[in-house]
Formats: sequence, C-alpha cells, structure tokens
Amino acid sequence: MLYTTLGKTNLKVSRIGFGAWGIGGGAKNLKWEGMWKADDSTSKATLSKAYKNGINFYDTALEYGNGHSERLIKEVLNKNGIVIATKVPPKDMHWPAIDDDINNVFPKDYIIQKAKESYKNLGRTIDILQLHVWSDRWFDNDGWRDAFQVLRKEGIARFFGVSINDHNPDSAMKLVKSGEIDTIQVIYNIFDQSPRDKLFPLAKKKNVGIIARVPLDEGSLSGTFTYNTTFNDFRKDYFAKDRLKITVDKVNKIKDKLVNQKRATAQIALKFCLLDGGADVAIVGMRNPNRVEENVKSVDIEFTDEEIKFLESQRWIRNFYPEDV
Ligand SMILES: NC(=O)c1ccc[n+]([C@@H]2O[C@H](COP(=O)([O-])OP(=O)(O)OC[C@H]3O[C@@H](n4cnc5c(N)ncnc54)[C@H](OP(=O)(O)O)[C@@H]3O)[C@@H](O)[C@H]2O)c1
Repeated sequence: MLYTTLGKTNLKVSRIGFGAWGIGGGAKNLKWEGMWKADDSTSKATLSKAYKNGINFYDTALEYGNGHSERLIKEVLNKNGIVIATKVPPKDMHWPAIDDDINNVFPKDYIIQKAKESYKNLGRTIDILQLHVWSDRWFDNDGWRDAFQVLRKEGIARFFGVSINDHNPDSAMKLVKSGEIDTIQVIYNIFDQSPRDKLFPLAKKKNVGIIARVPLDEGSLSGTFTYNTTFNDFRKDYFAKDRLKITVDKVNKIKDKLVNQKRATAQIALKFCLLDGGADVAIVGMRNPNRVEENVKSVDIEFTDEEIKFLESQRWIRNFYPEDV
C-alpha cells in the first residue's frame, strides 16, 4: 500500500480507501429499496481484510443504513492509525443540493446534532466530518462555519469537508477557493474526468485533500459486468434499458487495450484515479473480502504515456443517477 498526506490535515492515509456505503445495507428495516444489500458477517470480514492489507482510510456516512455502516466500522476497526471520514445528511434529505436556503438543509444546530450521532456510532472523534451535499450558494451563511467551530472545540470532529454533487465538480469552487475546508469528495473515474479541469488544480493550489468517490462507476469499471448482469439495488435504474450495454461496450474497449496478466480492469480504473493531477485517495466500495487484495495491489500498476493518453480519451460525461439520490 502507498500512503499520502491528505491536504492540509496532516493525516496519513492509504491511497486506496474503503467506501462503506454498501456495507450499510445490512441494517434492518431500511425504507429505501434502492439501498445496497449486504450481509453483516461478510461486511465485517471485508473491513477486517482491508485493515490487514494496509487500508487505513474509511469513508462512511450517518445515512448509510441509519448509522449501521458507522457502527460496523466501530466494531471492527477499534484500532490505532485508522482515519474515518463520515457525513452529515442534508436535513431535506435531497441529493443533489437544490434548496437555495441553507437553513432548510444544514442549519447550525442540526449539523452539531447529527455530528454527535455519528460520534456516538463511531465511539471516537471523527477525523473528517463532511457535509453530504454542498452548494456554493450557501457560502455566505455562517451557520456551517459556526457549527464546525463548535464541533472542533468540543472534540467531536477534527477536520471538515464537503461531498460535491454528482457530476457537478464546479459547484464547490467558491468554497475550495476560500480554503475554509480541509477536503473535498467528488465523483472521479475513467468516465467522469471533469474534476481535473478546474476543481483539482484549485484544490491542489489550496492544499485541500481530494477524495475520489465511485472510482469504479458503481462497479462497471471492475470489468465484471456483461449484457446479462442484473442488480437488486439502485443500479437497476442506474444501468437500466440500453445503459448497461453501452457501458459494457465502453469497458470492453478499455479491457481489450489495457488488461493483461499483470493487471485487472478494476486495478487499472483505481490507479487511473491516483495518477498525477488526480486524487489523493480513491475510496472503493467493497462488501466482499475477495475484492480487497486486487484493489490494494492497484497502487503498483504503471502505465506508459500512450496508455495514459488512451485512458484520458475514454472520458464519457453522463448522469445515470436518479434526481433524488
Ligand atoms: N454522495 C456521496 O457522498 C457519495 C455517493 C456515492 C458514493 N460515496 C462514497 O464512495 C464510495 C465508493 O462508491 P460506490 O461504492 O458507490 O461505487 P464504486 O466504488 O465505484 O463501486 C462499488 C462496486 O464495485 C464492486 N467492486 C469493488 N472492487 C471490485 C473488484 N476488484 N472486482 C469486482 N467488483 C468490485 C463492489 O462490489 P461488492 O460491493 O459486491 O464488493 C461494488 O459493487 C462509497 O462506498 C461511499 O463511501 C459517496
């Protein structure tokens, strides 16, 4: 595993991080039928294997199974050197951010209350507390700043960041430019390379840590899907109609050109996120321990200049997420 310092936080984090959305699916009585399905004992084995293989950065959220993902992390990873990022859900429960009035989404007292719930679930100080959506239209309101100050002072959270709206990296430019946050989390993968245009150069200039989420495009860039793959979660819609075929065809083009005995498709996709000009950390979702070793080894892959040019040419902008997820 390779490690890096995450922006100005001084936290040393593994360049492959663990995306803990999926493991929240083991919670009972979840109302959203699009949620990932997960089995707790397999999830715990996955967390444990990730730790043994050098992954020390875990991204979760209060919303992932109503705290279930956070509680599993607490149970399995009560160890030194673990860095945990979690998120405050928007009060209006709307992804992406649409309300211009931050008082309806992240009022000060609500941020503090939800962070304390996460603190309790995790049983420890939160290393990075992220707002689960962000809009630059909220920048001038001081509620979020005041909440962060209180939480820092009370030892609930140490550093602060935002998770940027799907496929809309420019929606947090004002915040990043201000240098008032420590990290950003954004969709970044072989298909959506848009954060490299403006967001990443600015974040690097301001020493804001960059966390790449959905590095495998919800699994397609693992190279394991076929035209006949079926889903029992939100991906039924994400890959609905002709989208699965179009996506598989695009992934097959990458496989044909770059996969060989030394590197699998998932490894190519993860290493792409970590190339110069890209992210500090790629958080890959895993509910299955069998994924861990392959993903961890991705940091060792090397590309020729020509291969990097080819990967850059695979940019494909689209938004397959439903409006309110
Ligand atoms: N708004 C937000 O803030 C937001 C939104 C989305 C995601 N996130 C964060 O980003 C993380 C990553 O995104 P994601 O989990 O949605 O998508 P992802 O990492 O792009 O893909 C996850 C999928 O890839 C599969 N996978 C992983 N490694 C594999 C391998 N080596 N071979 C084959 N399949 C493999 C996983 O399978 P299994 O699960 O079956 O192991 C899972 O189905 C999340 O867990 C969460 O922490 C944040």
